[in-house]
Amino acid sequence: MSSAPHSATAAPAPALSQQTLDRFQREIAKFPYEGRASAVMACLSIAQQQIGYVHPEHEKIIGELLGMPTIAVHEVTTFYNMYNQQPVGRFKLNVCTNLPCQLRDGYTALHHLEKKLGITMGETTADGLFTLQQSECLGACADSPVMLVNDRTMCSFMSNEKLDQLVDGLRTAATSEGK
Ligand code: FES
Repeated sequence: MSSAPHSATAAPAPALSQQTLDRFQREIAKFPYEGRASAVMACLSIAQQQIGYVHPEHEKIIGELLGMPTIAVHEVTTFYNMYNQQPVGRFKLNVCTNLPCQLRDGYTALHHLEKKLGITMGETTADGLFTLQQSECLGACADSPVMLVNDRTMCSFMSNEKLDQLVDGLRTAATSEGK
């Protein structure tokens, strides 16, 4: 069973903490005033660290701080896979389905994960553990199928067997940490 993708626009924006606002200011102070827009990626990351994703209201706040139109901030959010536009599970699995990977089992990997997790691309498992997403080129086309776990860990040559091992291992780790 799966949960439908969350809609960030429907959810009220959680308040940003004073610590988050202070961190914004520290990033902004790294640039001359007229170049403060250069802090946009750092500020988006900080907001996401607090609430797990980037809420449209927070894009607005960041835009006001940086002297940027909200839409320009949103363009940054939507350009990079690492920014979540809605709440995600504990493990975010991004499978590359760009053309070179398509030619080397990228979709096979994605569809195998959909079947194993019982969700479709873009969804989160009901237990909140896994979110499955497509991604653009990860710069490792020769290692296809490739995927990123939680925006940090690159996994190469992901056969169905390796995908099973990965998911089972993450699930076991999450279960044992919860004990
Ligand atoms: S196309 Fe998938 S890593 Fe480049």
